[in-house]
Amino acid sequence: MSTKILVLGANGQLGKSIKEYISIHKIDGDFIFTTRTEIDITDFAKLENTIKSIQPSYIINCTAYTAVDKAESELEQANLINNIAVGKLAQISKVYGCTLIHISTDFVFDGTKNTPLIEDEKCIPLGAYGKTKFDGEQAIIQNLESYFIIRTSWLYSSIGANFFTNISKYARDRVSLNIVYDQVGTPTYTMDLVETIFNIILSKSNSFGIYHYSNEGVCSWYDFAKELVSMQKIECDILPILSAQYPTPAKRPAYSVMDKNKIKSTFGIQIPHWRESLGNVIANL
Ligand SMILES: NC(=O)c1ccc[n+]([C@@H]2O[C@H](COP(=O)([O-])OP(=O)(O)OC[C@H]3O[C@@H](n4cnc5c(N)ncnc54)[C@H](OP(=O)(O)O)[C@@H]3O)[C@@H](O)[C@H]2O)c1
Repeated sequence: MSTKILVLGANGQLGKSIKEYISIHKIDGDFIFTTRTEIDITDFAKLENTIKSIQPSYIINCTAYTAVDKAESELEQANLINNIAVGKLAQISKVYGCTLIHISTDFVFDGTKNTPLIEDEKCIPLGAYGKTKFDGEQAIIQNLESYFIIRTSWLYSSIGANFFTNISKYARDRVSLNIVYDQVGTPTYTMDLVETIFNIILSKSNSFGIYHYSNEGVCSWYDFAKELVSMQKIECDILPILSAQYPTPAKRPAYSVMDKNKIKSTFGIQIPHWRESLGNVIANL
């Protein structure tokens, strides 16, 4: 792959996974990784100058304001990063002929449906994070034709702070943990998402648009926690509780399972079940 690819937000969970994937799979390509210190996407002049000088074919935007609860009190900052800057990135991508691969979230949905959500489903975000991510999607759609917006859910990996690493750590220190069972969705292993991103790039497809991607299967946070603890043989009781017993500043969708038929049929990909991927993550720890 000799295509020039700029990865923004290289120090985040997804950005780091892209680096790891390239190294493990020896992906040949011209990659430029930038962290927030190197390019803050809210510094529009620097963002434009960098893209102008690099002229990448693809930009993978791994940057985001991801503190879901904090976003409720830091709406302006979340909106700047997840919406305003994303719109600017789309405008710059258009000027320099770049295809933008942007990651969005299942939190654009309100969770009132109980069947898998397709890409055209009406978006009704419940909180500030979901709202700013949805507005960011719209900003791309309004400013650029060559984009892939991939909505994903419950992203985790074996590095950094995420549900998998946090629960694994807490479970080793405690006798029991209370985990909500009335929020249902699907975990997504970062490396599976990265593989899909590379499949899209390698396909050289111009089937631009919004796509849903998570691992296969359905579970609650309780099921996910119970399984990850059991697979690692950690002695900790995982106890089911209601979301109402664990109030958070931001409301989360009760159901956010996404229908992935569009991405599977467009790019001919197979998606591993969340249990299979979880098993692989644990086997490789
Ligand atoms: N995590 C999930 O469960 C989840 C679920 C669904 C969708 N997503 C989406 O998936 C994508 C990747 O998420 P992730 O889990 O990798 O998030 P993450 O670990 O929080 O990484 C986000 C990265 O963005 C960087 N960043 C924030 N503001 C920036 C700015 N102004 N300029 C440049 N970089 C900036 C952060 O920099 P610092 O390292 O300096 O903080 C961080 O490295 C995001 O779009 C997110 O919305 C995530």
